[in-house]
Amino acid sequence: MSPTSLVNIGDYDKEDIFRILTSASLFKQNPNRDLLKGRVCATLFFEPSTRTRLSFETAVNRLRGRIVGFSDAATSSSTKGESLKDTIMMVSNYADIIIMRHHLEGSARYASEISPVPVINAGDGSNQHPTQTMLDLFTIYETQGTLNNLTITIVGDLKYGRAVHSLIQGLSHYNPTFNFVAPEELSIPEKYKTFCDRRDIIYREFTDFSPESINNADILYMTRVQKERFTDLMEYEKVKNVYVLHNDMLRESRENLKVLHPLPRVKEINQDVDDNPKAYYFQQAKNGMYVRQAVICDLMGIEVK
Ligand code: CP
Repeated sequence: MSPTSLVNIGDYDKEDIFRILTSASLFKQNPNRDLLKGRVCATLFFEPSTRTRLSFETAVNRLRGRIVGFSDAATSSSTKGESLKDTIMMVSNYADIIIMRHHLEGSARYASEISPVPVINAGDGSNQHPTQTMLDLFTIYETQGTLNNLTITIVGDLKYGRAVHSLIQGLSHYNPTFNFVAPEELSIPEKYKTFCDRRDIIYREFTDFSPESINNADILYMTRVQKERFTDLMEYEKVKNVYVLHNDMLRESRENLKVLHPLPRVKEINQDVDDNPKAYYFQQAKNGMYVRQAVICDLMGIEVK
């Protein structure tokens, strides 16, 4: 049975992912349709967002649905002390689907368990960002012609980066090899290494951003150091600019290499990379809209042809 909410990319098997990516490619050919006419979608963003919220909202608008919600929790009654449970119960009275970003890990799972309407996790703390992974998989397939047997170098904040955590799980169906590049303070958590070990997924860890980690990769996935997750800003200052990709570092990279980034970037990709045809992060973000159209329709049981 297909999942009724999208909370964790691990809840989606290969068949589910294939179904979403197939619909997303149809939306990429034609994103303007009447499929959500008469439906209301709620976007509850307890944390800031540019791409995720706006691509979800554009996705709904292009399908003729309506949007309600908030982009700043300060304008919601959560500031008066209303619980997440009550907020979800209220919003599910009004909307046909809830799209939520929240700082607490597990909040989306909790919301999905109490909500009578589908819930889409638009990011819960450092835990998961499953629609980011769907658009990453779509983009990897688009640029590589396959998801299978690729070498993915993931650079930056592997400790707090929820896009990284979801991506490792999402790619696990396709026999990836991972290069994890992170300073010790931001290294990949043990649970993701155990996850890879249990699935015989090969990974190597690097603390330096070496030519080797770039030149043997099919995908170079850069990430931002997640300032908002640090309790001690002195610790953030120590690692914030630890790796910066410059255009000349791509000189010996594979022909098929693409540089991805979930965005926003701070300084980890120098702007001289932007004009290199291997830079694909803006196209990646654009794909988010098609993938989110596919996810919404899938969860609402709407057929896409
Ligand atoms: N990639 C991503 O989640 O971006 P936003 O924080 O702008 O939504």
